Amino acid sequence: MSNFSKYFSNNFERLGLRKLVGACYRSTDVDLFSRHDSEQGLVWRYTGDKDGNKKPDRDEIERRLLEGDGDFRSRECVAHLNRTDIVVTNPPFSLFREYVAQLVEHGKKFLILGPMNAVTYKEIFSLVKGNELWLGHKSMGKDMLFDVPDHFARELVATKKEGSGYRIIDNVVKARSSAIWFTNLTHRKRNDTIDLWAKYSKKEYPKYDNYDAIEVGRVDSIPMDYAGVMGVPITFLDKYNPEQFEILASDYEIRQGLMPEIVKKGWGGKTDRAYLDGKRMFSRILIQNRELQQ
Ligand SMILES: C[S@@+](CC[C@H](N)C(=O)[O-])C[C@H]1O[C@@H](n2cnc3c(N)ncnc32)[C@H](O)[C@@H]1O
Repeated sequence: MSNFSKYFSNNFERLGLRKLVGACYRSTDVDLFSRHDSEQGLVWRYTGDKDGNKKPDRDEIERRLLEGDGDFRSRECVAHLNRTDIVVTNPPFSLFREYVAQLVEHGKKFLILGPMNAVTYKEIFSLVKGNELWLGHKSMGKDMLFDVPDHFARELVATKKEGSGYRIIDNVVKARSSAIWFTNLTHRKRNDTIDLWAKYSKKEYPKYDNYDAIEVGRVDSIPMDYAGVMGVPITFLDKYNPEQFEILASDYEIRQGLMPEIVKKGWGGKTDRAYLDGKRMFSRILIQNRELQQ
């Protein structure tokens, strides 16, 4: 059933893959190749087209039941993980932190989907800051849209709001998700730098009430000539190039006491967020321009 499985097996030769291994968690769904309705997990392996029809046929796919349910933390799944080079999947979002921690612990390359707000999770943000994980190619502000079966499209229209649950593009209902890609694979956008054109002025870039840092409300107006600490929206991560900027901290980390030197004394001691003229700001990331750092 997984479109990841379909995509990689159908494009096996084109992508130059050596081996494709899929793990299936106690699925009671009909999977791509058989009806698998056991509490046990299943693992399958494909090593490419053998009969020359350029398709992954049933008998070209080796399948084996796992002893357990296929939990990604189980000994047998970890053994499979250890034999892989790159993991591509859509893991259970409720276990996202744990899933990522396991990939990092085992030194895997990965491209996985996750909830957009995961960038603010303490564990995930610290990986972003340490350049061990970054966002994929799709921008945070751009919808991730999916083709869905007709019955599901009807259900979406009946029960969800257009713009949040779905969008209609050329009369076709597309399911909408606020998921984004998380990866540690390099991609073109990762090496792009943000074009800086704005000039710093005290008036346009005021300092926060509680942090010794200036507010930059839009990523495309980061001043080119400000060497100090700047607060930017989370969408900065879309364009973050670690050669250009250093990420110093998130709001959360400041609250935890990471950068006491930027917290202004005598302002009521509030560090839950940045404040500007008494107004609590949306979540901010504190950054500094590397080229201007002494
Ligand atoms: C968002 S779905 C993605 C499914 C699949 N990657 C695909 O592309 O179709 C998350 C999947 O994680 C599975 N899952 C939930 N808990 C799990 C666990 N502890 N270990 C492994 N898989 C789990 C669910 O059964 C579900 O199929």
